[in-house]
Amino acid sequence: MSSAPDPADSVGGRKSAKAIFAPSGADGTLQAAQYTKGSLERSQLVSDPLEQFHTWFSHAAEDPSTPHPETVTLSTASLPSGRVSARMVYLKELDATGFVIYSNWGAHSGKSRDFSSGNGWAALTFWWEALERQVRVEGRMERLSDAESQVYYDVRARGSRIGAWASEQSKVLKDREELEQRVKDVERRFEGQDKIPVPSFWGGMRVVPEAMEFWQGRESRLHDRFRYTKDEAVEGGWRIERLSP
Ligand SMILES: Cc1cc2nc3c(=O)[nH]c(=O)nc-3n(C[C@H](O)[C@H](O)[C@H](O)COP(=O)(O)O)c2cc1C
Repeated sequence: MSSAPDPADSVGGRKSAKAIFAPSGADGTLQAAQYTKGSLERSQLVSDPLEQFHTWFSHAAEDPSTPHPETVTLSTASLPSGRVSARMVYLKELDATGFVIYSNWGAHSGKSRDFSSGNGWAALTFWWEALERQVRVEGRMERLSDAESQVYYDVRARGSRIGAWASEQSKVLKDREELEQRVKDVERRFEGQDKIPVPSFWGGMRVVPEAMEFWQGRESRLHDRFRYTKDEAVEGGWRIERLSP
């Protein structure tokens, strides 16, 4: 049975009651701010969720209060444990089939471990606060080929291209020196070479959606939510349903 936190619990090394409680309270109240900026109706949605995402992403990209709208949480899970891990990444491409992110797929990266455990499912969560909008994506991951990844790799700053070679992402390091030494070694290896091949352990992963949700914050937490679910029986291939907030 769960119970309320014990005020005698130690928080941050001190005996304290709840160290954080209703932190979004404004104006001396404990009440969270209301979402009042917009609303979402079924009639505003197009039949293809990727096209709908592109419209919402454009609104976020045009909004000066939404810097880096491409910032997204990628969640993956390992088999057979089911243990979930989530981390921020950047969306780098949207195409007709899905959302592409770039990362390290070596032995130590958590997302790589989850993918190679045989679990191809992933989720992406975007939050555009100034627009009071969330977009959720659930789908299967598919690795881009080296040739496809090379196209994006080539536009990265040289330091980032070197870094991709040098970093065994999420491996324990003895100290910062160890990383810097690896960077020097890679710089030496590619000295005088403009074109650097993309490492085989680094590249793009496309999340191909099977479900997507568009969420617009509303007053009193009575938000507007619409979920697209892949369904070949429906014209356009996607079923669209309003969800309770
Ligand atoms: C804003 C932000 C953007 C990030 N973008 C990426 C990214 O595009 N690709 C990436 O591999 N890691 C990115 N990272 C680092 C990841 O959050 C994470 O530390 C790294 O991918 C290792 O995670 P893993 O071991 O769970 O795979 C980003 C971190 C932040 C804070």
